[in-house]
Amino acid sequence: MPALSRYIRTNTPYEIALIATARATSNRRGGLRASAIRTTNLVTGRRMLRKNITLALLVIMSASCGADTDVTVLRVLHPHDGTHPVHHALVFMDERLQELSGGSMRVDIYTSAQLGSERESVELLQLGSLAMTKISTSILDGFAPSFRVFGLPFLFRDDAHRLAVMEGPIGRELLTSLTPFRLRGLTYYDAGARSFYLASKEVNTPADLAGLKIRTQESAMAIRMVSALGGSPTPMAFGEVYTAMQQGVVDGAENNPPSFYLTRHYEVSDYYVLDEHTAVPDILLISLPVWERLTPQQQAWVQRAADESAEYQKELWREATEEALREVQAAGVQIIRPDKAPFRAAVEPLLASFRDDPTTAALIRAIEEVE
Ligand code: GCU
Repeated sequence: MPALSRYIRTNTPYEIALIATARATSNRRGGLRASAIRTTNLVTGRRMLRKNITLALLVIMSASCGADTDVTVLRVLHPHDGTHPVHHALVFMDERLQELSGGSMRVDIYTSAQLGSERESVELLQLGSLAMTKISTSILDGFAPSFRVFGLPFLFRDDAHRLAVMEGPIGRELLTSLTPFRLRGLTYYDAGARSFYLASKEVNTPADLAGLKIRTQESAMAIRMVSALGGSPTPMAFGEVYTAMQQGVVDGAENNPPSFYLTRHYEVSDYYVLDEHTAVPDILLISLPVWERLTPQQQAWVQRAADESAEYQKELWREATEEALREVQAAGVQIIRPDKAPFRAAVEPLLASFRDDPTTAALIRAIEEVE
């Protein structure tokens, strides 16, 4: 197989300038301060308050994580609750890391986006203020454009194809392609396939989505995908979806069965339409500045614990998906298994435009060729 870097898009001058600015700001003012300045411009009201609490927490936490302690603690943030397969995988990673390192390293887990949204957590990693985060690869659209490809609808033929891409040379090369963004991918966690759920409108075909406000991830690809299917995309952070559905700010959203169930979004949904339009993997990221401070031996332990946690998460995922579908149905959600053909047809022009785009064409072809 030819060098994969051929398939992976390099940074545009604009992106290089953005990284340079982030570095310069970070060097001038110190990581936390720079993060405060950049993010307060983006947030208001309740989010500003949460941001201030976050920063206060981080100050306390970084003060407790010095070279004077014998244990190297890696703090990880994820947006789920303590029953999600990703959480169990991170607990497993912590246990393995403690074993491998003879107790000299451990992982501290912060759930339900306690320290900020997924996008904000990536910014904290870039500044070295947080060690690790588990996000959806959709969020990387805005950082590393090659990852847009994972958000393309109906890209993967089936579960086996998706796992072969993630675990094979393409997936691995993408993990390390994040270095220019001061990030390093450690591993992927399976996130199954995403489908629509609606508060009260029954959807059987893309035509039924017309005019409906659908929450999307904060990702350009997710927005384009919902538009292509006829919906009206409304991007927002994961943690805001329940209230948005309850209050009718959106008519629906889309996610995989475990997230639909464990977030309790099913409580405010009448229909779950299993069109399985995308299969966007989750990714465990480590801050490059933090990674570079670890010794080669510590890096090897962290990588091994992460790889093993992904194997474990894969086993949990299948079971969690079946349980979620069973439970939401028992709670009264109507599960619709629509004909996928009209959904595929509606997004074909979107796929074609990415197949023709020189920045993504080779990567898409390489993914499609994976057996
Ligand atoms: C999935 C994914 C999350 C993401 C969420 C979303 O549940 O695991 O990381 O936040 O989708 O829709 O935003």
